[in-house]
Amino acid sequence: MSATPYLAEFFEFLRFQSVSTDPHYAPQVAACAGWLEQKFQRMGLETRVYPTDGHPIVVARSERKPSRRTLLIYGHYDVQPADPLDQWTTPPFEPTLKDGLVYARGATDNKGQILAHILGVEKTLKEAGDLPVNVIFLVEGEEESGSESLGRFLEEHREELACDLIAISDTGMVARGVPALTYGLRGILSMEVKLHGAEGDLHSGIYGGVAPNPATLLARLLACLHDARFRVAVPGFYDAVVEIHDWERAEWARLGLDDNFFKRTIRARALLGEEGYTSLERAWGRPTAEVNGIGGGYQGAGGKTVIPREAFAKLTFRLVPNQTPAEVEAAICAYLQQICPPQVQMEITQGHGGEPFLCDPHSPDALAARRALRRTWGVEPALIREGGSIPILHTLRGTLGAEILLLGLALPDCACHAPNESFPLENLEAGIRLNQALLEELACSR
Ligand code: BES
Ligand code: MN
Repeated sequence: MSATPYLAEFFEFLRFQSVSTDPHYAPQVAACAGWLEQKFQRMGLETRVYPTDGHPIVVARSERKPSRRTLLIYGHYDVQPADPLDQWTTPPFEPTLKDGLVYARGATDNKGQILAHILGVEKTLKEAGDLPVNVIFLVEGEEESGSESLGRFLEEHREELACDLIAISDTGMVARGVPALTYGLRGILSMEVKLHGAEGDLHSGIYGGVAPNPATLLARLLACLHDARFRVAVPGFYDAVVEIHDWERAEWARLGLDDNFFKRTIRARALLGEEGYTSLERAWGRPTAEVNGIGGGYQGAGGKTVIPREAFAKLTFRLVPNQTPAEVEAAICAYLQQICPPQVQMEITQGHGGEPFLCDPHSPDALAARRALRRTWGVEPALIREGGSIPILHTLRGTLGAEILLLGLALPDCACHAPNESFPLENLEAGIRLNQALLEELACSR
């Protein structure tokens, strides 16, 4: 079977500029939800689009038979902004097929992956007239901006969304043709730190050597986030961290994702991270502190002799089991207060947070998912954790009381969130077969 018959539909889905962060795109986001609604209705599913304070949530369900298990499939139809536009070879919202790859914003993250599930269900319904399990699709439009409406929605609709299991394809594969069951993702904590010095900008000749410089002091503060061995230096930061287990180290070491792989992939002259761990272990199983942005003082062309009145840094911390955003936040704030030079005033603004995620890759349902992956690609799936975050996972599992299976279709070089994002047609086709195999395997895994 080839995925080509579905190409026209995939392209339609990709043409919507469903960028969720920028309010300017709200009509396009809503139109994309409407497209999904029509698609689900054509498949004969009971479909509803729920407006929220943010973007609409689409829910579609197959006929509910009490004797069958119920699988909820979660995904998102919103995408990241396409900028920088001049770095795209073809326009981000004019999907283009080249050498088996579909190039467009959202091709991998997450339109190609969720569409594979939709088309898989459609195909089974067409061929067999019925499904081996009850299916509920939950497709939201705010994942890329923090899933702000979804938490409340889950609370309010928990009965309607009651299910035995949750499947999500919004993670990665190890390589082309090498599938994976992702049993762990890192959590995230974000914040902004600002240092205030004198009341206004100052002439650095007149006051240099006299006034405190917030940019200089911010640099010292940020340098204190790590020690010389590149461990995070915040007291208590590692207290709750669960060490990577021996079986995980052994499993990951077999994947061939060594330092050379990382150097090649990121095209950097060297790698840097916490001593005592391989690069893969640092990316998947260790917590980090990262500076995502830094500013203050003169940023224009040429120079300007000024002592800035303030300087800021945007920080994120990736968390691993059993760290919690709340505990880590308290430890970081206490440390920053303690080391902040008294000559400047510090202001900390909290951002979003999400708990780390871990599930048992040896549970009966995880084994069923692994059988479905093996049937689809003909090779044994790897058991992996990944460094990225899907902050709603913890709330999804907690509110619905169902375990989550992460069966990703993204390739390491898919350029998610970056220019020239792509998704192989081969993976759309494999994703359709994966969905069909998954439904069959889950129907009889308990
Ligand atoms: N699909 C990604 C999460 C992901 C990335 C999982 C790589 C596995 C590997 C998701 O859409 C995402 O990008 N999440 C954000 C979190 C958010 C709070 C902005 C992230 O991880 O930065
Ligand atoms: Mn994303």
